Amino acid sequence: MSNVYVFDHPLIQHKLTYIRDENTGTKEFRELVDEVAALMAYEITRDMPLKDVTVETPVMEASCKILSGKKLGLVPILRAGLGMVDGILRLIPAAKVGHIGLYRDPETLQAIQYYAKMPSDIGERELIVIDPMLATGGSASEAIRMIKNMGAKNIRMMCLIAAPEGIERLQEDHPDVDIYVAAVDEKLDEKSYIVPGLGDAGDRLFGTK
Ligand code: URA
Repeated sequence: MSNVYVFDHPLIQHKLTYIRDENTGTKEFRELVDEVAALMAYEITRDMPLKDVTVETPVMEASCKILSGKKLGLVPILRAGLGMVDGILRLIPAAKVGHIGLYRDPETLQAIQYYAKMPSDIGERELIVIDPMLATGGSASEAIRMIKNMGAKNIRMMCLIAAPEGIERLQEDHPDVDIYVAAVDEKLDEKSYIVPGLGDAGDRLFGTK
């Protein structure tokens, strides 16, 4: 699991527990996912490069630091990925946002694209593909394959909860993509839900159950 980073910050773990709880209603679920996404954005940007600049404070000239690396792009996978976008944008407001829509063909179980719109300069951006649940890894793998075809070079994957099966699939298909999660759960059930997981992230975010 060398390229898997589990964010074990106590605030993330605390909030994730309430996200998992089936008694947490839509409003609170949405707020908690948003908050965890912001905390995860704080952690995922820890290795961003800095450069020195000089500013005049009211007291004197000071040598300070600002971010110097590639610009960021967020790529939520529709629809559950949308629930994490605003939290990340609060910390990184200049990030551009591309969207990918995928559905699973009921016969073949393949992930099929129905929507894709990316920033024109994705090749120059550090991209974070976002999906709260990395279950089989099929959608994430297909989304990453698509954005690589569109020119993306630097890609990270951010999820709330991953199943070992999804991690294995991504590592096989895209070994260059580091995976950032709040938790790695036990397994998938027969319907490909993550166990213990949190249920259907999209339904819980949008109240569509
Ligand atoms: N998608 C979800 O929303 N939940 C799961 O457990 C698996 C996939």
